[in-house]
Amino acid sequence: MFITLEGIDGSGKSTQAKLLAEALRTQGHDVILTREPGGSKGAEEIRALVLEGDPDRWSPETEILLFTAARRDHLEKTIRPALANGQIVICDRFADSTRVFQGVTRGDLQDKVNRLHAEMIAIEPDLTLLFDMDPAVGLARAKGRQTAEERFEDFGAEFQEKCRAAFLDLARDNARFTVIDASRDIDAIATDALDAVTARLSKTRP
Ligand code: ADP
Ligand code: TYD
Repeated sequence: MFITLEGIDGSGKSTQAKLLAEALRTQGHDVILTREPGGSKGAEEIRALVLEGDPDRWSPETEILLFTAARRDHLEKTIRPALANGQIVICDRFADSTRVFQGVTRGDLQDKVNRLHAEMIAIEPDLTLLFDMDPAVGLARAKGRQTAEERFEDFGAEFQEKCRAAFLDLARDNARFTVIDASRDIDAIATDALDAVTARLSKTRP
């Protein structure tokens, strides 16, 4: 089972990914927790290239290539082997992030993103949890972390508003999504996330 977590910056994905992994492990599942960009040695190296530096360091087209290269390595080295091993893979961001951040927000590049995805990745999650919230709150939370990885946060609030809308559009069009109100406290969100996964697991194993 392949589960992805998506949402704007600061929406609590990393926090919830850890809690979800712990909860599923407590239930006896074999879980791996991974993230994008990154999740394999090569992809972590690409991560530093895309997340650090000036916002205009890369064009959206170059980013599509870099994120897809990182994803391909992550898929080959981490995700496919884990799925083949029967593990539950929880991934903090995946291809929907490219659809939104590169495909929609800085010009209409969706077609290019989807073509490259079909050619090079060609896998969709079984379940995608979308953590939805007001970008102003998310951005304040994300900025509070003080890391060097702020290239996307530096695109500003309007950019994050566009991202939110684009994620909600994807959720409306794809049945694999569950939208979770991420403006609440951590435990309430974690309960909803686990419920969504449990419901999906019971469909696979009746
Ligand atoms: P993301 O991975 O989506 O960027 P994080 O999980 O890193 O988000 O959370 C961003 C910041 O907000 C962290 O400092 C985290 O501790 C805090 N945080 C996460 N979830 C909540 C919540 N429900 N309420 C308040 N703060 C939160
Ligand atoms: P992440 O580390 O998940 O940031 P955060 O914890 O702040 O949400 O992701 C870093 C940034 O990378 C984030 O702003 C979104 C961006 N990103 C893309 O633009 N395209 C992609 O394909 C992925 C996976 C991430």
